[in-house]
Amino acid sequence: MATLIWNALAAALAATITVGVPTWACAADAPVAVQIVDALNKRFGVHPGFRANHAKGIVAEGSFKASPEAASLSRSPLFTGARLPVTVRFSDSGGLPDLPDASPLANPHGMAIKFHLPGGESDIVANAFKFFPVATPGDFLALQLAAAASPPGSPMSPHLMAFLAGHPSVAKANATLGTPASFAEEQYFGVDAFVFVTKAGKKQSFRYIIAPEKVVHLSKEEAAKKSPDYLMKDLPARLAKGPVTFHLKAQLAAAGDPTRDPTRAWPDDRPVVDLGVLTIDRVAADSAAAEKKLLFLPGRLTDGIEPSDDPLIAARDAAYAVSFGRRTAGP
Ligand code: HEM
Repeated sequence: MATLIWNALAAALAATITVGVPTWACAADAPVAVQIVDALNKRFGVHPGFRANHAKGIVAEGSFKASPEAASLSRSPLFTGARLPVTVRFSDSGGLPDLPDASPLANPHGMAIKFHLPGGESDIVANAFKFFPVATPGDFLALQLAAAASPPGSPMSPHLMAFLAGHPSVAKANATLGTPASFAEEQYFGVDAFVFVTKAGKKQSFRYIIAPEKVVHLSKEEAAKKSPDYLMKDLPARLAKGPVTFHLKAQLAAAGDPTRDPTRAWPDDRPVVDLGVLTIDRVAADSAAAEKKLLFLPGRLTDGIEPSDDPLIAARDAAYAVSFGRRTAGP
């Protein structure tokens, strides 16, 4: 959990698997995390200093206070009921730092949360997909390469058509998205399954949901009228009037629900527990400088929360470390 250990591990991982200058070669013998970041760079271009994915974002600060129910599910220090400081980064999808916020490419928007605990940090990295388009790191890589062969505005390449035909979960996941009126009026999902552990050692698989006070999605016509940075401007304007709140929730799996396949949503009748309230008070003093230094990792967990058998969790940790290594490497 300790921040220093995690960041040292991420830096070491990035140092061992980053291949110097970003390359579009996507060498098949490079580690998958490197191939993934190369593929994202091929699709969106290389933008020094920016994330390979979710490049455009805004950093805010606030606190989290857990509900009593949360402590009954997990012995995590997140759930003692003490008010914990948090850093949150909202983002547009894709690797383009100047993407218009209402572009369909900006969906799914992201919400990453860093909890600051006395002994270190813990992260949740969520987005607006109710479930993920692909189930494995290999399929994520193949999808980025297929999408890179079909830039927006050009006819869909046979490569991408074949991928979509073979992976109906991509269209199904995309159909769960809308363009939000505000980062504060979007619902975000952890997508990957994790496992709560109680003091007595009892385990329960779950997926995070981060629920706003209300979800507001724009029509195509409304979205077309929005200025390129409307989401980035809305958040500070909203926070100037008062805090924005979300409920952190967990959907609990029943026996037999798939935990290793994030393309498969669990049935709606599974219990959803309110884990506590996230209150966002202010935008970071220098959001652009803050986001460069921040590294959110889905596998940066506390005692009392474990990864499931979902293969995306470790793959994401590795790919985020490669992207972080490159974006902080300097000119
Ligand atoms: C194999 C699957 C995935 C891969 C390879 C991948 C890759 C990446 C990479 C390389 C970054 C840039 C990280 C950085 O520079 O710090 C990123 C950022 C991000 N990803 Fe993913 N991603 C995957 C799945 C997901 C899923 C399932 C979600 C949400 C449920 C998600 C949400 C995000 C968000 C919100 C960010 C921005 C984090 C921030 O604000 O720092 N990604 N992703």
